[in-house]
Amino acid sequence: MVQLTLPKNSTISKGKTWPKPEGAVNLREFHIYRWNPDDNLNPRVDTYFVNVDDCGPMVLDAIIWIKNKVDPTLTFRRSCREGVCGSCAMNIDGTNTLACTRSMTEVKGAIAIYPLPHMSVVKDLVPDLTNFYAQHASVQPWLQTITPAPEKEWRQTPSDRAKLDGLYECILCACCSTSCPSYWWNSDRYLGPAVLLQAYRWISDSRDEATGERLDNVEDPFRLYRCHTIMNCAKACPKGLNPAKAIADIKDLMIERQL
Ligand code: SF4
Ligand code: SF4
Ligand code: FES
Repeated sequence: MVQLTLPKNSTISKGKTWPKPEGAVNLREFHIYRWNPDDNLNPRVDTYFVNVDDCGPMVLDAIIWIKNKVDPTLTFRRSCREGVCGSCAMNIDGTNTLACTRSMTEVKGAIAIYPLPHMSVVKDLVPDLTNFYAQHASVQPWLQTITPAPEKEWRQTPSDRAKLDGLYECILCACCSTSCPSYWWNSDRYLGPAVLLQAYRWISDSRDEATGERLDNVEDPFRLYRCHTIMNCAKACPKGLNPAKAIADIKDLMIERQL
């Protein structure tokens, strides 16, 4: 389990306890981090009660229920509600995960929800991903070629295509990077597991013709070598991917090209 570390701007106090829904028989209690940049108050943790007989089974269903029925100011990101877009990543019960794929039944007792750890907070459960996205852009995550484009499409053998399995499925949710101690302390210079997995996705692509430049781009004591194989990233990934292995494979390629 990834241990909870509070967001950068936190001096958290106990907040408001919102009323229980009238007539509800089956209730779940939620403790949810709240912070509004516009009210000059410190962050707080509010308590809500959700009528689970009136709500879908996932944690995302519950916070949408709270927003619709109790407190419209509660702020969070979500889009697909299918574990595909990565936008509902947050820290639930001490673990970075997707609210839309985490069932309420998987959590015992009151359900604590915080933003992804060690990121600045925009509001409530919304982390500031500006640096994360800039780092992603820095690895140039698109096909780069020198030879003229074929008439129809760039072709790939089934075995070369299979090399992308375990990489292309990444939804850029940032659960892994925000569970990585090296990224917590050095996110200004270390690319972190999500972005390095993305870099390796393009390094591994048989159709790409910029492999050398891609390796040059990440070969740096901070950008790549701040990974100390702590493995939090693989434990955190809600898609079951293994960024630590991708990072180890990049390091192997660095050694191979020196031989
Ligand atoms: S294996 Fe590397 S990237 Fe993954 S959590 Fe550990 S230090 Fe971070
Ligand atoms: S590797 Fe997994 S945890 Fe990391 S960004 Fe991609 S999907 Fe999210
Ligand atoms: S809402 Fe898209 S991954 Fe959860």
